[in-house]
Amino acid sequence: MYILANWKNSLSSENSKRLAESLHTRIIGKYFNINIVLFPDNISIEAVSLMFDSASMVRVGAQDGPLGPKTTLTGSISLSNFGKFCAYVLLGHSERRMLLGETDEMIAQKAALAIDVGVIPVICVNKGDGTKIDPHFGLKAQLESILDHIDSKSKFVIAYEPIDAIGTGIPADPEEVKNIAGIIHETIFISRNVKSSPYIPVLYGGSVNDKNIKSFLSLEGIDGVLVGSASLTADSFLRIIKKVSDPKHYK
Ligand code: 13P
Repeated sequence: MYILANWKNSLSSENSKRLAESLHTRIIGKYFNINIVLFPDNISIEAVSLMFDSASMVRVGAQDGPLGPKTTLTGSISLSNFGKFCAYVLLGHSERRMLLGETDEMIAQKAALAIDVGVIPVICVNKGDGTKIDPHFGLKAQLESILDHIDSKSKFVIAYEPIDAIGTGIPADPEEVKNIAGIIHETIFISRNVKSSPYIPVLYGGSVNDKNIKSFLSLEGIDGVLVGSASLTADSFLRIIKKVSDPKHYK
């Protein structure tokens, strides 16, 4: 199971370090069978990443990645820092798609570069616009753009984050999430139907907290969660970790 913590731009560097230290003391060696990934802001990545070594169950990632190996891009993390301090990268978060106009093409380009430097992309997708013929046309288009740019042997993660569930306190209906997870797995399977393709985990994100997480963990096709505001304090994130590490909450 994956538990990803997207700290967005909510914490100062001091508070990011404090939160990481507190999680380090309270998590390392205590919980098993879970992959925890913390996504601090760019200023805090180095400090947080150095706190957890590469063998630890806690990994660190960037909230966005460089566009191309030779593209000069003001505001982007450098490729060398990216490869050195990040194990994962979040790409295509709806906040970036909507506020910055990031396109599927840009997201796919960043994903391919991340894979080239050994960073695992976590590609965020949303419902997208449907057509009369296919209500999931927009979602599939987001996925297919990525699949077209990535070798079928490469590993990545998909996070389904419906826009109206992000930061609203109202998570998506679990039945709908299960249905969408099925469509995501099917789209990936059709596109990369080769034996050497690794399993692609599918996560759910949007107003996840310790009270509602159980209804998502038990869903077929869901391999974890991407948490925003409930990951910003050690107490609330730890309550989520405890539930995820307890198998009785799965099925
Ligand atoms: P919230 O958990 O605050 O709704 O944020 C979700 C999110 O955007 C994670 O990437």
